[in-house]
Amino acid sequence: MAQPPYRIAMPKAPHALFARIYDLFMVPQDRFGLAHQRTRLCGPAEGRVLEIAIGTGLNIPHYKSADTVVGIDNNPAMLRRAIRRTWETKITVDLVVADARTLPFPDRSFDSIVVGFSLCTIPDPATTLRELHRVAAPHAELRFLEHVRSAQPSMARRQDRFAPMWERVSGGCRANQETARLIDESSWLIEDLWSSDGGGLIQGTAVAG
Ligand SMILES: C[S@@+](CC[C@H](N)C(=O)[O-])C[C@H]1O[C@@H](n2cnc3c(N)ncnc32)[C@H](O)[C@@H]1O
Repeated sequence: MAQPPYRIAMPKAPHALFARIYDLFMVPQDRFGLAHQRTRLCGPAEGRVLEIAIGTGLNIPHYKSADTVVGIDNNPAMLRRAIRRTWETKITVDLVVADARTLPFPDRSFDSIVVGFSLCTIPDPATTLRELHRVAAPHAELRFLEHVRSAQPSMARRQDRFAPMWERVSGGCRANQETARLIDESSWLIEDLWSSDGGGLIQGTAVAG
């Protein structure tokens, strides 16, 4: 087995339980189709790539065109689990404990920015989108895959009822967030937007406006 490109010394994680159960919920969903969406999300990301809120690194095996990937997350317990996934790719992946709202990177330092299932969890997505814009090179692309408030009114109403309880048990995930609208209202220009049949899942790209 290839040696990991680096190791990280991490403090005791505050959300260790969430990290422990995350893959138990997500890996089966990847096997039943989500992996295909992850390949569409990460496969075309080129150059120096930043993935925010990389979690346990489920996207890592899907990078194909990146030169290097920097993955950040504010939960060290999630990153600790992501380390072994860095061993499964030939691409160099650096993992950094950081808050997506205040990134420790210079302006215009990334060619592609990837976010998956996280703009719903990071507090203050508008600030995050501004921060991503700051670290994006002028030609950079934002690639996103997010579950969102459904376009179907009956489903959206159910999400609205379920959202407060879900936010408490899921580490802060806002199940009924209208993320496409938030991106549209930010300094990013959406170029391409796909929605699932029920409108509960979106995937797309945006360019730095
Ligand atoms: C639902 S998980 C998604 C993980 C991964 N992107 C995936 O596709 O499986 C949401 C992630 O957002 C991270 N997160 C939440 N708030 C954050 C913040 N302010 N800065 C960085 N990461 C954050 C959590 O620690 C968690 O790993």
